[in-house]
Amino acid sequence: MKKIGVIGAGTMGFGISFYFAIHGISTHVIDVSDDVIETAKEKFKAYYQMFKEHQYPLQMSESDASAYLSFSTNLKDLSNADFIIESATENLILKQEIFKKLDAIAKPDAILASNTSSLKLTDIAIHVDNHRSSLLLTHFFNPAQIVPLIELLALDETAPHIVDEVKTFFESINKTPIIIKREVPGLAANRIQVALAREALSLLEDGIVSKEDLEKTLYDGPGFRFSASGLLKIIDFGGLDVWSVVLQNLQKEIESGQREYSTIKNLVEEQSLGVKTGKGFFEYPGKGFDAYVLQRDTELLKHLISTHY
Ligand SMILES: NC(=O)c1ccc[n+]([C@@H]2O[C@H](COP(=O)([O-])OP(=O)(O)OC[C@H]3O[C@@H](n4cnc5c(N)ncnc54)[C@H](O)[C@@H]3O)[C@@H](O)[C@H]2O)c1
Repeated sequence: MKKIGVIGAGTMGFGISFYFAIHGISTHVIDVSDDVIETAKEKFKAYYQMFKEHQYPLQMSESDASAYLSFSTNLKDLSNADFIIESATENLILKQEIFKKLDAIAKPDAILASNTSSLKLTDIAIHVDNHRSSLLLTHFFNPAQIVPLIELLALDETAPHIVDEVKTFFESINKTPIIIKREVPGLAANRIQVALAREALSLLEDGIVSKEDLEKTLYDGPGFRFSASGLLKIIDFGGLDVWSVVLQNLQKEIESGQREYSTIKNLVEEQSLGVKTGKGFFEYPGKGFDAYVLQRDTELLKHLISTHY
């Protein structure tokens, strides 16, 4: 994995390429928009400073790290890449076109991956012929430059050594790749997150807790414990006998159906879309979206450093 290609310099493409560059991996990023590329270059400086300020174990200076990152608008510039991660706009036709072109221009032994959150890799790769044994999904989490998890999903035709190679590569730069054994919508982490959101929003809409207390419930309750271990170890500590009874008693009580959450629907209708419009469930006055994102990412980075280094 000497040369990496990333397609899309937006939220995810930036995060993925920043992380590779600061680990000394030569990364070329393609986007159709010069403006997005310029923004990504500015973000590089801001995030390098953030990582430095919070003592992330950086291996090189900002100028040395930025030399590992290059940008262009021409997909053909990825013809010498060993590993290409597509992270362009979430649109099936667009991604099918990108993969069709990649199949023609990429090296015969290049590994091709998509970072799609909601599309099926089988559908995205419909026009891929030459690289069928080196296709996989690499699903990062936002912000990809900080959150360690990467979900990996191979197709039936993907050669097992490709998955091993990608997994070893991510592990070598302190990411946490996990294997999804079968293609299911939402893979693992988003499915769990949606299950959590379904119950949390139901508690809110059924008037069981206020929105302020719902935040505290997760942040200072289950979320607090999750900062020390995953779920199965929480069950091991609680006792399987205890959890078995709790599951039996509570499963029938919690939200299990599909609901349209009117709290979210109403907020969307009044254009309260969250941090990007200054108001969602809570208010975000004054600073603007990017400043709030930097503040959140600083908290996540501090957590990463305290838990993983
Ligand atoms: N945002 C998230 O939380 C998140 C998390 C995991 C995965 N994803 C997935 O990552 C991908 C990108 O999401 P994002 O949030 O970064 O979107 P984004 O809108 O921030 O960035 C997408 C970028 O793709 C570029 N683009 C569009 N067509 C292109 C083309 N033909 N060639 C090169 N670049 C092109 C756009 O100009 C844009 O800069 C999507 O597939 C999404 O589902 C997103």
